[in-house]
Amino acid sequence: MESLSCVLLAIAISLLIIKFLNYPHRRKNLPPGPRPWPLIGNLNLLGHHPHQSLHKLSKTYGKLMHLRLGSSSVVVASSPDMAREFLRTHDRIFASRPPSVAGKLINNNYHNVLWAPYGDQWIQGRKIYHNEVFSPKRLDSSEYIRVQEMHIFLSRLHVLSGNPMVLKGHFLSMNLSVINRIVLGRKYFNESKDEKEIMTLEEFQEMLDEFFLLNGVTNVGDWMPWMGFMDLQGYVKRMKALFKRFDRFNEHVLEDHRKRMRAEGEDFVAKDVVDVLLKLADDPNLQVKLNSEDVKGLTQDLIIGSTNTTTTTMEWAMSELIKKPHLIEKATEELDRVIGKTMRLLMANMLQGFNWKLPENMRAEDVDMEELYGLGTRRKFPLVIVAEPRLRDHMYN
Ligand code: HEM
Repeated sequence: MESLSCVLLAIAISLLIIKFLNYPHRRKNLPPGPRPWPLIGNLNLLGHHPHQSLHKLSKTYGKLMHLRLGSSSVVVASSPDMAREFLRTHDRIFASRPPSVAGKLINNNYHNVLWAPYGDQWIQGRKIYHNEVFSPKRLDSSEYIRVQEMHIFLSRLHVLSGNPMVLKGHFLSMNLSVINRIVLGRKYFNESKDEKEIMTLEEFQEMLDEFFLLNGVTNVGDWMPWMGFMDLQGYVKRMKALFKRFDRFNEHVLEDHRKRMRAEGEDFVAKDVVDVLLKLADDPNLQVKLNSEDVKGLTQDLIIGSTNTTTTTMEWAMSELIKKPHLIEKATEELDRVIGKTMRLLMANMLQGFNWKLPENMRAEDVDMEELYGLGTRRKFPLVIVAEPRLRDHMYN
């Protein structure tokens, strides 16, 4: 009985201390925000769609507001001029993402560009991308891959025309094919039963969806580290499982490339981004030494960064268009301003090559626009749509 009283007393004292730490006089230099609860702070206000909740809160508390998420103080910028303050004026101070379990467990322990804190490693990673992936020369030399995959995509749509189809899978297959061929040298996933690659397109898609979800979730352990070991939401367990799948894939790709490197010795010429990274890993003059983890992390960033983002953008764009068909005419002009050259070309081809309709018995207002929160906000229900060819058959081959 006596020990129970001691525990209760200890809890009461802890709550008082926490309450004191949250007391308004400690907040006097902070922007306005909702009053926090002692332990969870304002975590309860984030809900399933944090971006929407933050928008609603900003209507009450203004374009710069303060939230307490567990034991962390957070400021939220909700207007273009406030965003500019953080991303331009005070960029150096705010450039790093806060450490997180996702950064550690599914981002090669921060050995990449997406999660690495601002510093030499991040700067070097960006420089490598700039010189070896996004330079005009590299983009030009990979243009044929994008064009080839776009034609494969359009002829696939032609084969399926007239029937309802889930667009997302076809977008993803094209985007993944493009980036894997540029970065890894080939697709590394099976599209038919005869192929013997390490995984199927469906497995890849599942891993990418899980990655986007787990990188964006509100993991309680990130905000209340003392509760992390309990993994109440089960996210840490899922991250560990996902890491194993990615690492198996990454190891396979690296070993494949190393084999060629060993076989060709002095005559080895880099053909893809992994080759370039492996060569750089041997470079003693590099400012920050690259190891296998960095090669895996930098490769994974490109694959992940380019696939679900573009797939989601294209799926949302088609959803908006199918809901408001009169916009299709205005779309090309809009696309010019909003998205990049290759996507613009693709959308233009899709709109020029096909009439787009909803499946029979479905009206525009039936298209559900519900969002699924994550690192990128994707459609909760994939868009199902019917393509009808507008051109002669040979134009699709
Ligand atoms: C519609 C398409 C895309 C969208 C909406 C998108 C969005 C974003 C966003 C919001 C960030 C975070 C930026 C930051 O924190 O400052 C990011 C980073 C990144 N993206 Fe994209 N992205 C797209 C396409 C691509 C493509 C095609 C690639 C690669 C071929 C790519 C590679 C990356 C990489 C490597 C990063 C990390 C860079 C860094 O943190 O500095 N993204 N992207």
